[in-house]
Amino acid sequence: MYAPISSSSSAFLGQRSSTNSRWSKVVITSRSCETIRCVVTPEKTAYKTTVSRNANLAKLQAGYLFPEIARRRSAHMQKYPDAQVISLGIGDTTEPIPKVITFAMAMRANALSTLEGYSGYGAEQGDKKLRAAIASTYYGGLGIEESDIFVSDGAKSDISRLQLLFGSNVTMAVQDPSYPAYVDSSVIIGQTGLFQKDVEKYGKIEYMKCTPENGFFPDLSKVARTDVIFFCSPNNPTGSTATRGQLEKLVQFARDNGSIIVYDAAYAMYISDDSPRSIFEIPGAKEVAIETSSFSKYAGFTGVRLGWTVVPEELLFSDGFPVAKDFNRIVCTSFNGASNIAQAGGLACLTTEGLKAMQDVVQFYKENTKIIVDTFTSLGFKVYGAKNAPYVWVHFPGQSSWDVFAEILEKVHLVTTPGSGFGPAGEGFIRVSAFGHRDSVLEACRRLKQLFK
Ligand SMILES: Cc1ncc(COP(=O)(O)O)c(C=O)c1O
Repeated sequence: MYAPISSSSSAFLGQRSSTNSRWSKVVITSRSCETIRCVVTPEKTAYKTTVSRNANLAKLQAGYLFPEIARRRSAHMQKYPDAQVISLGIGDTTEPIPKVITFAMAMRANALSTLEGYSGYGAEQGDKKLRAAIASTYYGGLGIEESDIFVSDGAKSDISRLQLLFGSNVTMAVQDPSYPAYVDSSVIIGQTGLFQKDVEKYGKIEYMKCTPENGFFPDLSKVARTDVIFFCSPNNPTGSTATRGQLEKLVQFARDNGSIIVYDAAYAMYISDDSPRSIFEIPGAKEVAIETSSFSKYAGFTGVRLGWTVVPEELLFSDGFPVAKDFNRIVCTSFNGASNIAQAGGLACLTTEGLKAMQDVVQFYKENTKIIVDTFTSLGFKVYGAKNAPYVWVHFPGQSSWDVFAEILEKVHLVTTPGSGFGPAGEGFIRVSAFGHRDSVLEACRRLKQLFK
């Protein structure tokens, strides 16, 4: 078990022994004798099952973007334990949920302790009253019915459920840059090829470039036909919002190609101009679109978890089968309905008082957005988005997003998000989130002014 190594030889630490693969580490314990006494420590041999890893998961690059940012933030905090790190990165809400909403959830929670108020599993599609309230509040006059609404535990889960619905044989398009869940879930379900390092793209995904040059709306004449088109407006990360005219073009493009649009409206309540808040405001959209949305960014429900997806009954597969029927099957198989407490909160959100409270929350974050925009603008940066969204898309031409992210974190202890994490067209940008307490946002802006003055 001892390997004598001459003190003059260049002893290598950690090389695997060729004679016995169970031993790997050679640790020098003494240099006082002529020959060095070495202890060979056993390598941990982990038990392995005979199950092959899902090859699609192996295609994914590094971690999901936001856990990777959290990891870098933790590493930074270890390096600078006394630093006051401010996070305007991940896009998590920070302000308390309005009382009118938590009160309803508390009442529902308390009722669960009574015989009369107890309820177990609810309908997988959600509480009827909540489905009706979502239909009338967000889709009134658009021909969307209660039965078209599927209440869920959030838009992100629904994006994965939709991928399960489509399966591995469809092709898909995304805005570039876009919220990473679309691409990652597409890779996981097996719709894509391998990641191509030279172009920073997965094979078989159509990346629809959205940059300042095209006003953050893709040139559809250059977009290849795909089965599914993920489209988010207001877009995360660019904060840009598609106009009515642009959405009309998108719907026409989908109709011409027989494609299905998955429209992510998670930030629709941040729209304050006349841009559409729902894809279903566009005539003809019900035959070609699904819409997903969420209470996360309106009511601070990122932890409570409540969202919904609209699958109109008019939307049909090529064989005439209703998409909603298959989605219902997916929901009933993979989900047992949103939490009854969260749904009570959702109903409270949609009362007159609740809606007013959500608008106040949205307004608060929009004021943060303005503070961040003014800061970067005063420093001479070109910023985009922000008007109808809680995200500021800041341009650092010619610079690597990760370098900019790292510099801001290192020098002023501020976490942002590197634009390239959202797709190759995000390179040269960072996303600054407006989700933060007012004093944190003001302090972050003070530090940015110091850094870039
Ligand atoms: C565009 C977009 N869609 C969906 C989600 C996820 O929302 P939820 O919290 O409802 O899962 C987010 C969250 O940041 C998002 O930015």
